[in-house]
Amino acid sequence: CGIVGYVGSADAAPILIEGLNRLEYRGYDSAGVAVIDRGRLKLCKVSGRVADLQEELPARFKGSVGIGHTRWATHGEPTVANAHPHVDGAGRIAVVHNGIIENAEELRAKLQADGVEFTSQTDTETVAHLVAAALAGGAEDLEQAVRQALRQVVGAYGIAVVDTENPDRIVVARNGSPVLLGVGEREMFVASDVAALVGYTRQVVYLDDGELATITAGGYRTFTLDARTTAKSVSEVDWDVVGAEIGDHAHFLIKEIGEQPRSIERTLRGRIDERFNTAHLGGLNLSVREAREFRRVKILGCGSACYAGDLGAQLIEDLARMPATSESASEFRYRNPVVEPDTLYVAVSQSGETVDTLAAVQELQRKGGRVIGIVNVVGSTIARAVDGGIYIHAGAEMSVAATKSFTSTVAAFALLAVHLGRMRDLAPTEGRRILDGLAALPGQIEEILDAEKRDGTIEAVAQEIARRNSVLFIGRRRGWPVAKEGAQKFKEVSYVHAEAYASAELKHGPLALVSPELPTVACVPDDDLFDKNTSTLAEIRARRGPVVALAHRALPEDLADRTIVVPRSEPELDSILMSVPLQLLAYHAAVALERDVDRPRNLAKSVTVE
Ligand code: G6P
Repeated sequence: CGIVGYVGSADAAPILIEGLNRLEYRGYDSAGVAVIDRGRLKLCKVSGRVADLQEELPARFKGSVGIGHTRWATHGEPTVANAHPHVDGAGRIAVVHNGIIENAEELRAKLQADGVEFTSQTDTETVAHLVAAALAGGAEDLEQAVRQALRQVVGAYGIAVVDTENPDRIVVARNGSPVLLGVGEREMFVASDVAALVGYTRQVVYLDDGELATITAGGYRTFTLDARTTAKSVSEVDWDVVGAEIGDHAHFLIKEIGEQPRSIERTLRGRIDERFNTAHLGGLNLSVREAREFRRVKILGCGSACYAGDLGAQLIEDLARMPATSESASEFRYRNPVVEPDTLYVAVSQSGETVDTLAAVQELQRKGGRVIGIVNVVGSTIARAVDGGIYIHAGAEMSVAATKSFTSTVAAFALLAVHLGRMRDLAPTEGRRILDGLAALPGQIEEILDAEKRDGTIEAVAQEIARRNSVLFIGRRRGWPVAKEGAQKFKEVSYVHAEAYASAELKHGPLALVSPELPTVACVPDDDLFDKNTSTLAEIRARRGPVVALAHRALPEDLADRTIVVPRSEPELDSILMSVPLQLLAYHAAVALERDVDRPRNLAKSVTVE
């Protein structure tokens, strides 16, 4: 979901629409805006895209104070009635909200008992009525009313509220869902994501949980639920990182796949220590003594971040010789995990806002665990919550499907593994070997992209398999997370069922599915497990299953119908290169099936609700 707001002397609606357009990449299913025009509230909402909203806007939708929202349905269907902003009965208050109000049912029942009529099924509408009730009950001003309302609310929120009787301001609040202020020249902005402010201002103020703010054209004031003023500092945003434009690319997805040589370079920049054959990772805040005292590493993340963590665990175990595992943060947080002082916890998140990952971090910290982050978005909630970390510097990732953030995260894990390894038992020559391998990756990714531009092999394969009902992705050891990420990418953008399996597990079930109808995409690097991998292919071929292999050299026809040849890296880093053709495969399948490539149905870029 996304929030934008504007107070100043310009017309608010076009600024709100522009901001919502910038947030489109996060995924949503309805959108709306509200402005205050000479003391009256004007509202426009649609179920659908921001472009539809823009079309629906009446000609006279003037007003220089306003709020806007894109919604990803949680409570209630994506209808116009459920779209934000939500308004109180008198049409005085309008609210936009991200997050979930957990006691919404209880609040709704209480309000209804007092005669309030609801027009939507959302949890958000309760906030509009609570603020109105607080004002009717004698709250002195909008700030006090919002504070009184929020004191009754249990749950997570980022909200923005406007009031026709206080038409010069927006009151915002944050608790578990990001809100930031944009500081302009005699104008102020609000957003849930800094991307919404591109082109308007570089000066931002990040609110913390439990904080509120009032913004007017002249400035801002921040305070807490019990009205204590808080002190904030202004941060400067680097637009090169945030302001991604699609340029002449058909989709952000293909643009971002193509950016990987540069994004990996940025991940590595300044971090390769030539002198000691190690990685320089200043943001970790980890002394040699501390690093040596950790006995285990536990990695947590969701979706692609978790699969990157699977590769990270193998890198750390291989190179630093520390037992390392990765687990989905959403599972971890609910199973009362044992938190050990000699375990280094690593939270992985592109957005730095995924609620399950954040909850895992908070749970760990509550139990005294030491958590570092591997995050893309600078200043994001997880980046600020952890005790140190590595920014991957992949640049803004606009497509819902993760690509460059995935490969950059794995590269960051390789740096971390070398860093930890060189403080333990990793030989300098071994450190050097991995660092050289990393430095060669951008050129090798370039080769993959150029080869595809030249001969379109992957596109042709994608067109073939996109017409099937299902695709199997398999791999062993490092190839297994590559298969998981490959299957995830494929299903999320093409809507074709795809399943990943560890190669050796095939015979424990999925081999029953193999037939001429079910293609298998197999990761077959030329390493010490090559023979094991080819014997799995032979098992599939014996059941006449079509095979597409990702390998370092073309495989004979009796093993694979097609081979996608990938340049050879160090064995520990092959997974990064093998992931790129699978991104292209997913992309071309989605294009062949005319899917909404950058915004797959039902998905959001960052999941800030449970
Ligand atoms: C969503 C996105 C995925 C992403 C996951 C974790 O499900 O669609 O692409 O991998 O969230 O996001 P994070 O920002 O924490 O990496």
